[in-house]
Amino acid sequence: MNIAIDGPAGAGKSTVAKLVAEQLEYLYIDTGSMYRALAWAVITKQVDVEAEQAVSDLLKQNHITLKRDTDNQQHIFWNDEDVTDRIRTPEVSKFASVVASYAPVREQMLVLQRELAVAGNVVMDGRDIGTHVLPDAEVKIFLTASIRERAERRLQELLQKGHQTDLAALEAEIAERDKRDMEREVAPLRQADDAVLIDTTGMTIPQVVERILEICKRSGE
Ligand code: DC
Repeated sequence: MNIAIDGPAGAGKSTVAKLVAEQLEYLYIDTGSMYRALAWAVITKQVDVEAEQAVSDLLKQNHITLKRDTDNQQHIFWNDEDVTDRIRTPEVSKFASVVASYAPVREQMLVLQRELAVAGNVVMDGRDIGTHVLPDAEVKIFLTASIRERAERRLQELLQKGHQTDLAALEAEIAERDKRDMEREVAPLRQADDAVLIDTTGMTIPQVVERILEICKRSGE
C-alpha cells in the first residue's frame, strides 16, 4: 500500500508522515527535501534562480539521493554532500518554491520520486503526490491548518534551531509560498478528488497520526 500526504507549507505533513511510516514500518519519503536540496544548490553555486533552463540543467548534471543513516533518520545528499541540516532555512524555503514551479525540474523530480516508491509501502509527502506522483496511492490525505497555526508551528521549529524570525514575517512568507504553489501551471498544490481532508488546526500530532492510521486500516480491509 502507498500513502500520499499533501498539503500547504507548515501543515505538519513531514512530522505526521514520518510517524505514520514508523508505525507501519513503511519507507518515508519527503519530496519537499528534494526541491529544497536543489534550491540550496542554486544558492550555493550562485545559479540565477529565475533562469529555468540553468536550474533544470543543474539538477540534470548532479545527483540528489535520500539515504537512511545509522541514526535511522533520513538524510538528503547533493552528490556526496549531506545537506540535510542546511535546507531548513527561510531562504531555501523561498527558493524551493520557485524552482518547484519549473516544468523541466518537476519532470525530473517525478522520475526520481516514482523510482523511490517502486517497491511499494511508502509514505510520501509533498504537494502533488496524490494528484501526479502516485495517482494510484491507496490512501490519499490532504493535510491543512489555519495560516496562523502553521506560522506558529514553523516559528517554534525555527526558534529551536536557533534561527531568529517573527510570526508576522512567517505568516507573510507562508502565504506567499502557498500562493505560488497553488497558482503555478504545472502540478499545482491541490487536493486530489479522492483524498481525505484533515484540518489539523487545534489537533495534536498523535491525534492526526491516529486519524491517518484509522483511514489506512479502513482502506486495507
Ligand atoms: O514541504 P516543503 O516545505 O519542504 O517544500 C518545499 C517547497 O517545495 C514548497 O514550497 C513546494 C515545493 N514542493 C512541490 O512543489 N512539490 C512537492 N511534491 C514537494 C514540495
